[in-house]
Amino acid sequence: MTSEHNSKYIVQPGGSLTGELRVPGDKSISHRSIMLGSLAEGVTEVTGFLEGEDALATLAAFRAMGVKIEGPEAGRVIIHGVGMNGLQQPEKDLYVGNSGTSIRLLSGLLAGQSFNVTLTGDKSLSGRPMKRVTDPLTVMGATIESNEGKPPLTIKGGKSLQGIHYELPMASAQVKSCVLLAGMYAEGKTSVTEPAPTRDHTERMLTGMGYQVEVDGDTVTIEGGGKLTATTIDVPADISSATFFMVGAAISPGSDITLTHVGINPTRIGVINILKLMGADISLSNEAITGGEPVADIRVRYAPLTGITIPEDQVPLAIDEFPALFVAAACAEGTTVLTGAEELRVKESDRIQAMADGLQILGIDARPTADGIVITGGTIGSGDVESHDDHRIAMSFAIAGLQAGGTIQINNCANVATSFPDFVGLANKAGLMIEQIDE
Ligand code: S3P
Repeated sequence: MTSEHNSKYIVQPGGSLTGELRVPGDKSISHRSIMLGSLAEGVTEVTGFLEGEDALATLAAFRAMGVKIEGPEAGRVIIHGVGMNGLQQPEKDLYVGNSGTSIRLLSGLLAGQSFNVTLTGDKSLSGRPMKRVTDPLTVMGATIESNEGKPPLTIKGGKSLQGIHYELPMASAQVKSCVLLAGMYAEGKTSVTEPAPTRDHTERMLTGMGYQVEVDGDTVTIEGGGKLTATTIDVPADISSATFFMVGAAISPGSDITLTHVGINPTRIGVINILKLMGADISLSNEAITGGEPVADIRVRYAPLTGITIPEDQVPLAIDEFPALFVAAACAEGTTVLTGAEELRVKESDRIQAMADGLQILGIDARPTADGIVITGGTIGSGDVESHDDHRIAMSFAIAGLQAGGTIQINNCANVATSFPDFVGLANKAGLMIEQIDE
């Protein structure tokens, strides 16, 4: 994994993106399919599963807790659910690598178990805030030890949890999901009110597996003591991975690309809304519902972009797509202003600073602010940029190569494997001239 080897990308300038391709499965839905499939009664079959390091870390964690899981093989996973109380104490600490979703959702789910367990992660994860999950879980009656609010987290078993009403202090689907998963093990009702809509994959999958979830405006309520029934789950392609090709096509003349079977859950489509506001030519076809999640083919043809002030209500709906959107802004005519996005500073890296630093190296006027960035479109040059071990920063600078004046070298790209195995292969196929050098 990350610490054992690293790799850099060398991107030659120019090119355009064409053709039809399917990017790997949705990361958020893949995590949840393993978690809920493991706790269900019966056998859950998952197809389109993301075989990236993050989702595989969740899979390994449940295997370590005694769940029989077959695969993944070509995106197919068979989970032999053990029921709500069938997990066993793992022999060792559970290492979840780079994955914030694993550690935050698992901490809620494990707070309701009968055994102690410790969750650990890599250097990036070990620096990320966990008080946002330990605070509400503690109010529910859990006992969790942390390293001053950061991983590792040791969750003490055998605690009886009480349902609570929790007002989320920040728009976070991970915190919402954590509290709801703990709520399945709590006495009475647990409800969560969010300050703005965030991805609702947990609520949809719980419902799809027969666990009653009540949604009333901005509040989600669940009652403890229910059970999950196994089902089949078709994981759509990840709109967060599709984003790199959408932005790449939007900035490079001659592009015409179609991304197939992409999840277009309304809580995830901020990238489409924002690119359209900037003038992008995006159309959807083959819209369908699969496993409770909407999907579509997304076609993007080149059209000149214009800088905008990004509406704040779009921020949680595009939270993982901003590094790529900053590249779109760098190629747009005029200035793009982002505010209300302080959460970007506590992702796999400080994404505001990492993108501002790299864009400046490439000759773009990119000014970070406390909760966003101001980017004035210009001419992308060449240079060496740092990904800070952050998959989305690495892929964002890769697509900048389509409009660059010279070669871009991106350092420390191994973590692209957390969310997008074979990014380099697919990107080359689509028309980006990118080479990976393993060190
Ligand atoms: C995720 C929620 C988001 C997102 C992350 C995945 C999830 O994080 O950035 O990549 O699967 O619930 P926050 O909950 O911190 O906003």
